[in-house]
Amino acid sequence: MKAILLAGGKGSRLYPVTLGVSKQLLPVYDKPMIYYPLSVLIMAKIKEILLISTKEDINSYKRLLSDGTQFGISIEYKVQNKPNGLAEAFILGEEFIGKDPVCLILGDNIFYGLDFTEKLEMVVKRTLSVGKGTIFSYPVNEPNRYGVIEYDKNGDVVSIVEKPRHPKSNNVVVGLYFYPNIVVKIAKKIRPSKRGELEITSINEYFLKERKLKVEALPQEFIWLDTGTLKSLIAAGQFIETIEKRKGIKVGCLEELAYQKGFINKKQLIQSISKMSETSYGNYLKNKYIK
Ligand code: DAU
Repeated sequence: MKAILLAGGKGSRLYPVTLGVSKQLLPVYDKPMIYYPLSVLIMAKIKEILLISTKEDINSYKRLLSDGTQFGISIEYKVQNKPNGLAEAFILGEEFIGKDPVCLILGDNIFYGLDFTEKLEMVVKRTLSVGKGTIFSYPVNEPNRYGVIEYDKNGDVVSIVEKPRHPKSNNVVVGLYFYPNIVVKIAKKIRPSKRGELEITSINEYFLKERKLKVEALPQEFIWLDTGTLKSLIAAGQFIETIEKRKGIKVGCLEELAYQKGFINKKQLIQSISKMSETSYGNYLKNKYIK
């Protein structure tokens, strides 16, 4: 299983904040936003990752994450010349994906909740063995900002519509997708939507029509945040701060997860910590794993 981490776009809803820096590098409390989706990939034990961003920003990501060895993973990089839509990731990533199934995760999505690792591992296994795609649904207050799922009276999914004016339910599609290898072919076939983008929703519609789409419901008590607006970005930072302080844990701590998964050893962990011994992030790791 390979994964694509999408960190491009203009971030125009956050201007002027994002005029000089990529949105997914902005801090969400104590770490860059991109750490959160990257931590999901480590939780899912996916080691081969392609990070896609803009020409202007790709080097900042290389500077931050380099080739991933410090987390026991491999990170490759690819430029997206224009924000042509989420589904373009599979076209740009064709060579990287090769013959494997692939996961796509959006660089501005944050996931936090009980039993998520188990769910991810189950979906990875299923995608590898069953040739079906998996998306995740989550109930939100303003569904019209997302891909919205419509159900029939038996609870079966009948349609998925991108940002509808009149949403048929409150359940929306989150920015985490698993597909068998055929997704590359499908991505090449779909046409841009009215807003000129290759929509991930068009990919999902294809899998739905072919009866090859599983929709996993994330429970109400699960936390899914996107950080596309100033308000939601600030709220996400406050949420992470509250959870981390209250529980004495870290959310999206890449070194910790890599160590727990056995991707890196203690020597490598100590090496990473040495660079940030003056911060609460570094001290957290030191106190928990070195002392
Ligand atoms: O967050 C979940 C939602 O993500 C889904 O419910 C929608 O179905 C899906 O279309 C998408 O909607 P958004 O309007 O939130 O997508 P946005 O354009 O904000 O892009 C999401 C992330 O992907 C963001 O970090 C920027 C990046 N991106 C976006 C586009 C269009 C790229 O890297 N390249 C692109 O071409």
